[in-house]
Amino acid sequence: MALKLKSEKSMHGGRVVQYTHDSKTTGTEMVFSVFIPANAEFTKVPALYYLSGLTCTDLNFTEKAGAQQFAAKAGIMLVAPDTSPRGDDVPGDYDGEVKWDFGKGAGFYVNATVDKFKKNYNMYDYVTKELPAIVEAELPALPGVKSITGHSMGGHGALVCALKNPGAYKSVSAFAPICHPTKCPWGEKAFTGYLGSVDAGKEYDATELMLAKGPFPELGEILIDTGAADNFLTGDVNQLRPKDFEEACKEKGQKLTSRFQAGADHSYYFIASYIEDHINYHARALRNASMVVSSKPTELPPTDTVGKPIKCKAAVAYAAKEPLKVVEVTVAPPKAGEVRVKVISNALCHTDIYTLSGQDPEGLFPSILGHEAGCIVESVGEGVSSVAPGDHVIPCYTPQCNEGSCIFCMSPKTNLCPKIRGTQGKGVMPDGTSRFTGPDGETLYHFMGCSAFSEYTVVAEISCAKINPALHLEKASLFGCGVSTGLGAVWNTTKVEPNSSVAVWGLGAVGLAVVQAAKMAGARRIFAIDLNKSKFQIATKLGATDCLNPADYEEPMNVVLVKMTQWGVDYTFDCTGNVKVMRQALEAAHRGWGMSCVIGVAAAGMEIATRPFQVVTGRRWCGTAFGGWKSRSDVPKLVERNLAGELPIDHFITHRFKGVEEISKAIDALHGGDCLRAVVSY
Ligand SMILES: NC(=O)c1ccc[n+]([C@@H]2O[C@H](COP(=O)([O-])OP(=O)(O)OC[C@H]3O[C@@H](n4cnc5c(N)ncnc54)[C@H](O)[C@@H]3O)[C@@H](O)[C@H]2O)c1
Ligand SMILES: [Zn+2]
Ligand SMILES: [Zn+2]
Repeated sequence: MALKLKSEKSMHGGRVVQYTHDSKTTGTEMVFSVFIPANAEFTKVPALYYLSGLTCTDLNFTEKAGAQQFAAKAGIMLVAPDTSPRGDDVPGDYDGEVKWDFGKGAGFYVNATVDKFKKNYNMYDYVTKELPAIVEAELPALPGVKSITGHSMGGHGALVCALKNPGAYKSVSAFAPICHPTKCPWGEKAFTGYLGSVDAGKEYDATELMLAKGPFPELGEILIDTGAADNFLTGDVNQLRPKDFEEACKEKGQKLTSRFQAGADHSYYFIASYIEDHINYHARALRNASMVVSSKPTELPPTDTVGKPIKCKAAVAYAAKEPLKVVEVTVAPPKAGEVRVKVISNALCHTDIYTLSGQDPEGLFPSILGHEAGCIVESVGEGVSSVAPGDHVIPCYTPQCNEGSCIFCMSPKTNLCPKIRGTQGKGVMPDGTSRFTGPDGETLYHFMGCSAFSEYTVVAEISCAKINPALHLEKASLFGCGVSTGLGAVWNTTKVEPNSSVAVWGLGAVGLAVVQAAKMAGARRIFAIDLNKSKFQIATKLGATDCLNPADYEEPMNVVLVKMTQWGVDYTFDCTGNVKVMRQALEAAHRGWGMSCVIGVAAAGMEIATRPFQVVTGRRWCGTAFGGWKSRSDVPKLVERNLAGELPIDHFITHRFKGVEEISKAIDALHGGDCLRAVVSY
């Protein structure tokens, strides 16, 4: 490792670390600070570089800007380098005099060409090349997914680095940047000293670069904040000249938001006031960038089956509590608004077992179960426009019709589109009929709008999430139900914040996804609770800090947790479906603000109870279906995050089976206790 650890502190669920290393670019030892958010412990994250101003080091930003709390929330790394090379043998004088705005602490983010400085003062190459290479090789930073910001001289640096390297930075912003350095005393001095002339500085001047090479559409809208009461803007000399840059952007058609913040000066009080905006601005761009993944072209499926019934194998549930029977079924072609898909992989979910066991009073038989699948579109019915043959899709049991008249689809508050709810619950397609026929001509019911225990199935177009085909469909199937549900319960339904405490009952795939998502959200303490202690190892790996087995305690878990935490846990989740657990989870929630989320599906006829006092004293009870994800718009994004390396899910696949015949073996595995997800590929 080329990096030497100088200091390390825990902060907002993540770590603030200072490193030193020998730099080839500056010929000195360099120092930089990073904030590594909690999610980076098991995944790579995008990085935001911050360049500091004159006389600063890496620590001004780290200690004064308060940026880490927002980076923790956004799940991005912060990287803050020093502002210049240092050391007794590094020259730093300007014409024999030591100045505060030249030399050490004032590298100006250029590569010096003047003999005296060119050995060490190469901050431009250091920031744009050597430092990102080290950060991406040795720290959990996503290669190539970075943005840049900075303050004053560092704001100039950020703009220049971004404008000189189109495509290298996903976004750029700046606080009080020196926008036109060839036209202000700071820049004139730096360029004369390091480059030999002011004119040579034009290639390190944001306004001149914009005029010469702009616009830069790949940067989107550049964001600049300047304090309206900044004495370097309003004093005798205007060192910053933001209006020059505004005019250059206007002339070249570059999108720019340039704001002047009333009352703000040049200090870190100003930066701390607006850092949240800047972090969120970059997080959006970085998130979008990490989702652009090259997709391999899809192979078109054969067309000889289009419009005709397909005979294929399916594992049919003829009656509750009876083993599945593998038979040849006939799958009719898709009608209007429907899609016929070839199922490539299907993961078993607890809900399939629950229905097969007869506990679900609404369970219909004979039917084809299965609802966590990765599929390829074989053919589409009339009027289908959002997917085409060859597309990779995940059928979702929560559809998304996206019609303007659907108040649920139009509301950001929910994912519960009721468009086909009535017929889906009755085991038929929206026209009231089934597409499945059994070997004796019997009609077979659909299940949860998916029916993936069959080599081919028909689903509604509005249930099809079209995903990037680069993800293997075996993995993609996991996003069809349990894993997405656990992640969404944390990120969408309860919105767990950095530093909070979380308790999860039930460490199946759903509960472990809750643990993983809570860790990624920066939760400080995560209690993982299960009667089966073999789940504790993986829970700990995913971020659980305390693993508890209720069998080890005489008192109920809510009493245990309240004792351990004094007032309870900020967010609690039931992932068992047991109504007693649901009550304990509510009563373990923090007095005053604790929120408890019901995820588990309870057996038929069960009710939940608590004393009203529990909610009067501030505990809130909520629940989630499919984690609140809007299926067609959100599931593809989860897939992209996985492809970008940000959201690993491989650990959920514990068992693999081949062929429809082996679905029963997969069910046995799920009962076995050591299984998270058993995936059957056909
Ligand atoms: N709300 C939704 O949208 C949604 C989506 C998917 C699954 N679910 C439901 O979520 C639940 C979990 O699904 P899964 O696939 O992870 O199931 P799973 O069976 O794999 O895991 C359940 C875990 O809970 C543990 N457990 C059972 N009783 C317990 C108790 N009293 N205390 C502590 N631990 C206990 C088990 O040992 C097991 O590890 C199920 O009820 C399922 O139907 C809901
Ligand atoms: Zn499910
Ligand atoms: Zn809808």
